[in-house]
Amino acid sequence: MRKTIFDLLNRKGTLPVSMLTAYDYNTARAIDEAGIDMILVGDSLGNVMLGYENTLAVTVDDMIHHGKAVCRGAKEAFVVIDMPFMSYQASVEDAVRNAGRIIKETDCQAVKLEGGVEYADRIRAIVAAGIPVVAHIGLTPQSVNALGGYKVQGKSLEQAHKLLEDAKAVEEAGAFAITLECVPEALAKLVTEQTQALTIGIGAGKYCDGQVLVYQDMVGYRDGFTPKFVKKYADVHSVMLEAFRQYKQDCEQRSFPEVSQTYKIADEVMETLTKEQHQIRTYNHESSKDRKGGKRDCSRLAQGRTDSRTGAHDGIPA
Ligand code: KIV
Repeated sequence: MRKTIFDLLNRKGTLPVSMLTAYDYNTARAIDEAGIDMILVGDSLGNVMLGYENTLAVTVDDMIHHGKAVCRGAKEAFVVIDMPFMSYQASVEDAVRNAGRIIKETDCQAVKLEGGVEYADRIRAIVAAGIPVVAHIGLTPQSVNALGGYKVQGKSLEQAHKLLEDAKAVEEAGAFAITLECVPEALAKLVTEQTQALTIGIGAGKYCDGQVLVYQDMVGYRDGFTPKFVKKYADVHSVMLEAFRQYKQDCEQRSFPEVSQTYKIADEVMETLTKEQHQIRTYNHESSKDRKGGKRDCSRLAQGRTDSRTGAHDGIPA
C-alpha cells in the first residue's frame, strides 16, 4: 500500500524515514522494492541525468517527464517532485499553477520547493490547494549564484538564526516536511526539536527525522567529485565500466554473441534460400550480359516461383 503523509508524520521522533532520489522507472522500481519510504524526483536531474553544471536549466516539463516514469515505478513509496527554478519564484500564481500541473500530470504525492521565509506565501497557497509540500532550506542549489557556491549553511550565528526562522516560517505555512541541506549536525538537531514537521537531512547529521541522498552518489554511479556527506554503498561506475570494456572486446573478437544468444533457422529453409539466391545471381549476371548485347529476356524470372511447402523453386527440388 502507498505510504501516506500521515504514515510519514507518525515517524517523527520514532523510526527515521529513508528517502532517495530517482529519475526513471527502473530505479524507482528498485528503490520501491527495497522498501525506501520516500522517493524524490529532484531537480538534481539537471546535474546527474542531463549533464548540466547546475539545476537552473531544468524545466517543469523535464520534471513531469521524469516524474511520470518514477510514479509508474513506485508502488508504495511516497513520491515528491521538485519544483524547478523559476516555476514558483516569480509569483504565488505561478507556484500554484505549476505545483498543480506536476501533481495532475504525474500522479505524485507532494512537491518540494527551495527557500524559507521569502517563499512561505507560495507554500501556504500550494497547501491551500490541497497539495502537500516539502520545504528545502539550508543550502538551496537553485540559489547557487547568490550563495557563491555549494557551501555549508548556518555556521555563523546570523546564518543559524536565519535557518531557524526559515524552518519556523515554512512549518507555519503548512510544509509537512523540511529538507535540511548542508547544515551542521547540532543546528539540524535543534531545528528537528523545534518543529513538528519531519526534517529530512542531506549533509545535516544523524538527528534529523529522515535522510535523503542522490541515488547516483550513494551507489557510486557518478565518476568524479563525491560530497563529504555521501556514504558510498556500491561502486556501480566501476562495474559498468568493466562491463562496457568487456563488451567492446567481445564484439571485436566475435566472442559475443554466443550460441545461447543466437536465433536459429531450419537447415531446409536456409538451403532453399541459398539456391534461390544463387539462381537470382545467375539470372542477373546473364541478363546484364544480354543488356550489353541489346536484348533482355525476363520470361525465366517471371515464371520462377518457390513452392512454400516444399521449398522447390522453378521445379528444382529443395
Ligand atoms: O534535487 C535534489 O536531488 C535535492 C536533494 C539534494 C535533496 O533537492
